[in-house]
Amino acid sequence: MTIKTNTNSIDIYKKYYVERDYEQIDLFQLLKDKFEIESVLYPGSYVHISPAFIFPHVVFIDSDKQANKFFKDYKYISYIIDRKVYSADPDVTFYAQDYTIPIPKLENQFDLLVSQYAGFISDTCKNYLKVNGYLLVNNSHGDAGLAAIDKDYKLVAAIKKSYNKYRLSISDLDAYFLPKKDVSINKESLHEARKGVDYKKTAPLYLFQRIS
Ligand SMILES: C[S@@+](CC[C@H](N)C(=O)[O-])C[C@H]1O[C@@H](n2cnc3c(N)ncnc32)[C@H](O)[C@@H]1O
Repeated sequence: MTIKTNTNSIDIYKKYYVERDYEQIDLFQLLKDKFEIESVLYPGSYVHISPAFIFPHVVFIDSDKQANKFFKDYKYISYIIDRKVYSADPDVTFYAQDYTIPIPKLENQFDLLVSQYAGFISDTCKNYLKVNGYLLVNNSHGDAGLAAIDKDYKLVAAIKKSYNKYRLSISDLDAYFLPKKDVSINKESLHEARKGVDYKKTAPLYLFQRIS
């Protein structure tokens, strides 16, 4: 006798984000409370759908096959409806593609661009962010360091985590992104290193504003 296992596509979200305590819902709520953010672009999202629990309009982009399968099965919409904190219907779109391939209709559409563990999004996807919009970025692939040397961005907060809670810090921002070693940092060297350089003072995440 064969036993059919009824796998639910949402299980993959639970496995990677709920069980690992990496939903970041409090982070997205914090950003919503402090800044005027309605629309979010998340390139290299995999199945990290939690921004859509907090923000009504979210576009996800990922070239991964499993992510494509997840978004093709519309169970994720019911899951977002169950967990959303806003009254509107969720407006969620997924692009199953490489985020370096241009999507002209998304230009200047977003209040927040998210870049976590997925390459140089600050640069490649900058034109999708409105001027005055925000970039939430970590430095795992060097993307925060790239934003720090980009004249179109200004660092507005370091995002720290203590007692399992995120908080914004706006003190001593000039102390971030100073390299430990005397190395010259430019776009080419960061792209080559692909994991960033060591800085004297760091935070788990950073918030930049697009200023031009
Ligand atoms: C390590 S996962 C991170 C997922 C999510 N950002 C998170 O923090 O959990 C990296 C994801 O970025 C996607 N990715 C990397 N480069 C990409 C590209 N050029 N275009 C589309 N997706 C990309 C991968 O397919 C993968 O799903």
